Amino acid sequence: MSEAEIAQAKAMMSTTVDKTKMYVSMDQSKAYSEFRPRYTDDLFKTIVDFCKETNPNLNLAVDVGCGPGVSTTGFCKYFKKVMGVDVSETQIACAPKNIPNLEFKVGYSDKLPFIKSGTVDLFCSGESFNLMPHKETFAEADRVLRPGGTIALFGYDVLRAANPVIDAVIQKMFINFLPYWPKESTMIFDRFRDVTLPYSDYRRCDDLKICEQLNIDTYMGLMKSLWPFVAYCKDHPDVDLAGNLRKEMEAALAKVNPPGNTTFDISWDMFILMGHKPSK
Ligand SMILES: C[S@@+](CC[C@H](N)C(=O)[O-])C[C@H]1O[C@@H](n2cnc3c(N)ncnc32)[C@H](O)[C@@H]1O
Repeated sequence: MSEAEIAQAKAMMSTTVDKTKMYVSMDQSKAYSEFRPRYTDDLFKTIVDFCKETNPNLNLAVDVGCGPGVSTTGFCKYFKKVMGVDVSETQIACAPKNIPNLEFKVGYSDKLPFIKSGTVDLFCSGESFNLMPHKETFAEADRVLRPGGTIALFGYDVLRAANPVIDAVIQKMFINFLPYWPKESTMIFDRFRDVTLPYSDYRRCDDLKICEQLNIDTYMGLMKSLWPFVAYCKDHPDVDLAGNLRKEMEAALAKVNPPGNTTFDISWDMFILMGHKPSK
């Protein structure tokens, strides 16, 4: 987001919600697992390369706030064992069950009693650190990480469409939704600029992008995975929000695409913060 958009977001986002209860509907979690963007292998490899700088072992990666595993599964080809932890039972219920070196647990980022101290090579969190208690999560990361282990926080900014007519519809939708985001989500729009990792050997990466093609149905699926969509529908049971968003997007697509074509190109800018726990 631009500086002006972030300022506007900060002014409008005042909602306080229980961040452990934002993903409790099975419909939302199913939409999340199917339609949220897939992190590219560039992201997983960038984090793994950073891990290797101070620690040759890739035994155990733990992804907290893992949701249905979109931020977790990409580590499976690099680590002997990968564990995803999320406070939401519905998110964990929608996570894949068929990857042999991958395990999911319901739990809190700052309370991981099932993980022994000093055994984790990578402690990470995708698109979720803003929802967690920071000091306590860092303390738990420090307990479970081995010396030389890595902490990585990552995520993606709001989606952008390549076509300006389509992008205007998406940005209008985000502005309308702003009052429904918890105020901690400004941290995501800010790409965690104000987050300081607990270790001094620390680096940022802002160069990576997720590029996808959506169509009207995958766009609607993505909308249904967003907390503000769920919160708005709860507050306005008589409004057909999905129908309204679909009509607006269909009208924009009719202006820019040949008849019957509802596809459009979109992208998300990713960000990663990575730090090494001191070796001694
Ligand atoms: C936006 S989703 C991110 C999911 C996934 N990591 C991704 O990158 O798409 C945020 C997730 O954090 C979880 N969460 C929120 N607070 C948490 C906490 N304190 N401990 C563990 N998970 C938490 C939510 O239940 C939700 O599934």
